[in-house]
Amino acid sequence: MKKTNDSFTLEFAKDSGFDRTEIYFYSGTPDLMGVYFSEDTKQNRLFVTDNTIAALECNRDFVRHFNVDLGDISDIKINESKVYRNGGDTLCIIGSGEKYKTIESVLEMVKAALDSNFNRNCLFIAIGGGVITDMTAFAASMFKRGVDVEFVSTTMLADVDAAVGGKTGCDFGNYKNMIGAFYPAKKLHVFSDFVKSLSQKEYISGLAEAIKTAFLFDKEMLELFKNERDKVLARDSEILNRLISGCTKAKAKIVHEDLKEKGSRAFLNLGHTFGHALEAVSGLGEITHGEGVAWGMARAFEYGRKNGLCSDEYAQNGINILASYGYNVGKANVPAEKILDAMRKDKKNMSSVIKLIVQDGPQSTKIIEATDEKILEVLR
Ligand SMILES: NC(=O)c1ccc[n+]([C@@H]2O[C@H](COP(=O)([O-])OP(=O)(O)OC[C@H]3O[C@@H](n4cnc5c(N)ncnc54)[C@H](O)[C@@H]3O)[C@@H](O)[C@H]2O)c1
Repeated sequence: MKKTNDSFTLEFAKDSGFDRTEIYFYSGTPDLMGVYFSEDTKQNRLFVTDNTIAALECNRDFVRHFNVDLGDISDIKINESKVYRNGGDTLCIIGSGEKYKTIESVLEMVKAALDSNFNRNCLFIAIGGGVITDMTAFAASMFKRGVDVEFVSTTMLADVDAAVGGKTGCDFGNYKNMIGAFYPAKKLHVFSDFVKSLSQKEYISGLAEAIKTAFLFDKEMLELFKNERDKVLARDSEILNRLISGCTKAKAKIVHEDLKEKGSRAFLNLGHTFGHALEAVSGLGEITHGEGVAWGMARAFEYGRKNGLCSDEYAQNGINILASYGYNVGKANVPAEKILDAMRKDKKNMSSVIKLIVQDGPQSTKIIEATDEKILEVLR
């Protein structure tokens, strides 16, 4: 395990009620034992992960420490978990993926800590993608009215987005992230090599958020996406480190300025109003979040071009970059009116008028009020 030099601290605004997140970047094989078992601790700890991550070769020593039989965790039912104990440490494993992001899974975590007789000084540690980090932090926010939480992020999406910024929660019924709280992690450990074992589908999904960050804030990174496509797709180590640390820092900067999304944090929703609507209309899980966001960014560029907000050239350049990574940038396979209707229902849309994030040039972003007719023009 090699800690890189660019660890940093995300300080939250004074009036936010939160203190800070210490963020550490590592290159080389992920080493959970090195991070959490190289020194003795008296603190009780609840580790939470999913059964795919627990089965990764690089985590073998970690699960062995808890005597986990991998056969035992191959098929964990929804709303259930497997719990293991060793000394003051407890490991709670749930199934993998969005369908496990339920309030019952969150309560399984709380129950594991209660059954271990943990008090308010314990620590919750999420090892996983956005599903695990969102739920573990939410469980930590509730357990005995709030205990500390730390993250080890293991997906591209969690590294560049979900693990930074304090939004936590779970789904409810068919509604995504309907229950939750703001509750940032005290520490975030980022091993960029975790990304190498992700399926191509999950990698490409997370990459869309990284491309979004480049459009919003980072000209150099955008050039890299344009000129180093093959290396990006091959998950070249140096490129991964650059992308992940660049995106994590950019998100941290925005969160520092605007934790509760009263202003500039809304820029992070570039592509999301269109994208969430397509995800909802296609059926949850039919397209990945990243595919939705990439398609949504292409729609936002079209909107900008058609309404004279940005140049033809700027819009086309953005669309070309997205298309070069294989995202659908054209018309969706579902009726435009249904997408428009879903956009109106987006939980981030507070008024009757749909607000869109658009760009008028490189790294220049604004929020506009869009009319139904103009939205339909870019959907048809
Ligand atoms: N809190 C936020 O600000 C925020 C922001 C964006 C997204 N999110 C949430 O994040 C979730 C999506 O996150 P995600 O894409 O990380 O999903 P995820 O946590 O479900 O992980 C995706 C899949 O990859 C597997 N996986 C994880 N790490 C792996 C690894 N290193 N190697 C191989 N497989 C691995 C998981 O088991 C899972 O099957 C959504 O629920 C979304 O709402 C939250």
